[in-house]
Amino acid sequence: MSKAIQAVRGMNDLLPEAVERWQRVEASARDVMCAYGYREIRLPLLEKSELFACSIGTQTDIVEKEMYSFEDRSGENLTLRPEGTAGCVRAGIENGFLHNQIQRLWYAGPMFRHERPQKGRYRQFHQIGVEAFGIESPDIDAELILMCARLWQTLGLDGLSLELNSLGTPESRTAYRTELMRYLSARRDQLDEDSLRRLEKNPMRILDSKNPAMREVIAGAPNLHDHLDEGSRGHFERLGEYLRESGVVFAINPRLVRGLDYYTRTVFEWTTDRLGAQSAVCAGGRYDGLVEHLGGKPTPAAGFAIGMERLVELLALQSDSHPAVRPHGYLILLGDEAEKRGLKLAESLRSAGFRIEHNCGGGGLKVQFKRADRSGARLALLIGEDEVRNASITIKNLRDGAQRSVAQSELIDLLLKDTPRGTAP
Ligand code: HAM
Repeated sequence: MSKAIQAVRGMNDLLPEAVERWQRVEASARDVMCAYGYREIRLPLLEKSELFACSIGTQTDIVEKEMYSFEDRSGENLTLRPEGTAGCVRAGIENGFLHNQIQRLWYAGPMFRHERPQKGRYRQFHQIGVEAFGIESPDIDAELILMCARLWQTLGLDGLSLELNSLGTPESRTAYRTELMRYLSARRDQLDEDSLRRLEKNPMRILDSKNPAMREVIAGAPNLHDHLDEGSRGHFERLGEYLRESGVVFAINPRLVRGLDYYTRTVFEWTTDRLGAQSAVCAGGRYDGLVEHLGGKPTPAAGFAIGMERLVELLALQSDSHPAVRPHGYLILLGDEAEKRGLKLAESLRSAGFRIEHNCGGGGLKVQFKRADRSGARLALLIGEDEVRNASITIKNLRDGAQRSVAQSELIDLLLKDTPRGTAP
């Protein structure tokens, strides 16, 4: 037999225990988004490659070297989505729900980037993304940030810091870019290989460099804020006021530039120092020009995306206050007659609202009790020959070993009285 086939590098299986943790986070996120009036949209994983080139930008790392692109059988150039904003805008234009409307939307699912895998950075990863269309004023930027803050609070998460910046308009950025190029070109000998590559095509990304050797040259670079147009400056100041008024703590980071070209004005990132190099848990900003750029009518927009792997990892580092969901009872069945009654009993218990794992595949008493323990259930419910004869059932508490026998007809009433349903037993 040849070596077993393994998963693709950077693409992970999520085993049931992890999935339960993810589901708790997803449920909290869904509640928070619902509380702000956002509605879910489901989008394809595959889009035409040109969509990402046009929106994220041809000179970005994502489009230049990280996309999973291929020609399909009809010769069409397709890409596994590296992010969700572009697809959401494409869907909005195509389905006509953006023009002259306010839309608050969210989506969740896998994204694909061919990056070098490491802790917190994967080739298939998951985002929960939120996009708001049709609102130009900074109150929507504040709303998006408050939603994040509420989610962290709901999850009992601490240790996340908010960084804000304004990238201005494309026009104000062009003027800044020219000055930045002049500054950096005069210091070519201090630039690392990555920065030299970015110098001509995307010099603002140099400001984002994590290389300590670049720190000095970056610190001396001209400041984007000195080049902001008046509208962007006012927008940014107003956002700051809203956030201060709402009690959200933030730091302005003039070097925060983001790795996607569609941003205008506000950009933000929630980071943590607990996850090592991959510190951004959530990021986003405004992209007022993208809808028009992709062929729609001019529509202001803003949004963010949360990296699920990083968020869940951060939660796991804290004590997890949400207990895992386990069955209330495990049904142990000994003999043909018990098995026959067991199926029906399990159904009626579930109809009464209990989570019941039913022993399938037979097995002796010891084996079945072992399975009951492994299921995490609080109670073992046993029907053997005696119980069949007496129409009774034996209930064993698997936490403290207490055991008693009751009539099968009384079981549901008794459990309804004793068991806190809906929560973990
Ligand atoms: P992004 O900064 O590229 O923005 O990704 C958002 C988040 O996804 C990151 O902060 C990080 O938590 C997570 N993430 C990104 N790449 C990886 C990876 N390779 N492995 C694990 N996690 C990763 C966007 O994608 C924008 N579409 C966000 C947005 C929505 N802006 C406006 N609306």
